Amino acid sequence: MDFEAARQRLIVALDVSSRRDALRLADRLIEVVGCFKIGLQAFTSQGPALVKELTDRGGRVFLDLKMHDIPNTVAAGVEAAAGLGIEFLTIHTLGGPAMLKAARSGADRSGNARLKLLGVTVLTSLDASELASVGLPTDVRVLAPRLAKLAQSAGLDGIVCSPQDLAHLPKQDQGGFLRVTPGVRPAGAASQDQLRAATPEVAIRAGATHLVVGRPILQSHDPKEAAVQIVEAIRHARMEVK
Ligand code: C5P
Repeated sequence: MDFEAARQRLIVALDVSSRRDALRLADRLIEVVGCFKIGLQAFTSQGPALVKELTDRGGRVFLDLKMHDIPNTVAAGVEAAAGLGIEFLTIHTLGGPAMLKAARSGADRSGNARLKLLGVTVLTSLDASELASVGLPTDVRVLAPRLAKLAQSAGLDGIVCSPQDLAHLPKQDQGGFLRVTPGVRPAGAASQDQLRAATPEVAIRAGATHLVVGRPILQSHDPKEAAVQIVEAIRHARMEVK
């Protein structure tokens, strides 16, 4: 795999509060990363205008809105988001099969053929006691594969899960089904609040197709170089798994 192909697999979480910081980072990173993730904070404060400013620069956008509502509302929300020209959008698999299928229909109706719908499986912030308190199976090794299967059978394009969950997913859904993992830390980097972090190499070897990385790049003294190092790690690890 060459650098160009490897960089398409690196998604940078633009977790900054101001439009100016987001665009400055995007300008520094646009040549070396594949996509920029806009989350609830940036989207709520800056709105679709920030998405447009990024796409106008040639940036690809991952809109991390983790939609979860009744099917009709989600279908309409997905269609509206797809109209912003984004590349990835997240939906909570816990919304159930009807909602996931409605999300698929909304995406198909939108005419944005590049859009990939990703199902969020189990939030890494949910431990066994949190899962029990909402009445869900407490074993992530049971729950994560179940939700991944649900996402796939509803026609989603992939899932978001922790690198650790990848080991519990059935091998047969590898083909074409995306596995996007946050919680990635280069060897030697501070793990911060990511309790179960994995290096880029470990995540790719475990079956991740795309990595979401925020602070190790954003807080580096040289964000571009930090991103290049992660792309190189992806490139090497992909050559091993191919
Ligand atoms: O800075 P860091 O690399 O930890 O950023 C990871 C990004 O992935 C953040 O935007 C965070 O919200 C997101 N994320 C995560 N863990 C999840 C789901 C999303 O870290 N389970």
